[in-house]
Amino acid sequence: MKSAQPMWQMRAADKGRSEVLAALRSDGGYVSGEQLSRRLGLSRNAIWKYVSSLRTYGYIIEASPRKGYCLVTTPDTPYSWEVSSLDGQRWLGGYSVYLPEVDSTNKLTKELARQGAPTGLCVVADKQTAGRGRRGRNWVSPPGSGLWFSLLLRPPMAPSEVPCFSLIAGAVVARAIRQVTGLSAMVKWPNDVLVHGGKVCGILIEMSAEVEHLNHLVVGIGVNVNLSANQWPAELRNVATSLSQESGTKVRRLPLLHAILQEMQQWYERLLSVGAGPLLEEAGELSATVGQQVKVVAVGQQPVCGLAVGIAADGALRVQISPGEERLFYAGDVSIR
Ligand code: BTN
Repeated sequence: MKSAQPMWQMRAADKGRSEVLAALRSDGGYVSGEQLSRRLGLSRNAIWKYVSSLRTYGYIIEASPRKGYCLVTTPDTPYSWEVSSLDGQRWLGGYSVYLPEVDSTNKLTKELARQGAPTGLCVVADKQTAGRGRRGRNWVSPPGSGLWFSLLLRPPMAPSEVPCFSLIAGAVVARAIRQVTGLSAMVKWPNDVLVHGGKVCGILIEMSAEVEHLNHLVVGIGVNVNLSANQWPAELRNVATSLSQESGTKVRRLPLLHAILQEMQQWYERLLSVGAGPLLEEAGELSATVGQQVKVVAVGQQPVCGLAVGIAADGALRVQISPGEERLFYAGDVSIR
């Protein structure tokens, strides 16, 4: 019996749509049906079918009997054919799954990892019905307004090195936000991304590991892109914000997702080749925590207040609680006072 195609494998129709889009984009203006057909090795009828289906997904493609087709507008939706790169330069997101709605992209990615999904898989949803935050909290994930996605990675590192990776992930997102929006994104230890002091991104890293061996990481990233002030529940109104709230303008999700994937791939490759040291140093330049008076609440411990003096080589936050007395934190909620 023929087995069902795994969810992460690109469907023939998605491949066709992605090839037609790439050809329309590379030429910019009008491309004749005949040229498209020759270039892609598809019949003119097949081209017409892909163009029609792209229109149902919100693409505006003009057709003129004499000039051919012209891509006018692309919807800002992370469809799998938009996320996966055709040129193969970017392996991160080379396989991707897009769902209009899912309970949690982390939960689905963990399930797909168990089914043998490839490293670099990116699972994106427009809306999460049970988005998960750190420490069992909920993550507000309404449709059309955020980037809710998870990455599957299998780094050759020990479980004890994961805290460093977690810090690096925050710096990666902050850098991508800076590139795309110009906003001065900073990282609150370990990996919350803040703009003007408000949280615009949270990262939930889950791992499957044995004592000495890491099987895989699921890196769940939630970026509040275009949420408006009234979309936050009362308890988050003073804590959370979005890129559009802070920049005063709507931000496109797709270029931001591409920038995060690109930056993450580069930093991941550097991490494996040069180790965490230089990356943590660079990440430290974006720290909103170091140099600040902080309160750290770690599980099962009394809250501790002090001056955040730095980040240790293993990713721990160093807090000076009295002259000459320093404590290291590997996990916990930090508030800047
Ligand atoms: C935090 O508490 O700050 C972490 C929030 C992480 C949210 C993201 S959204 C995509 C992925 N799927 C989830 O269920 N959670 C993460």
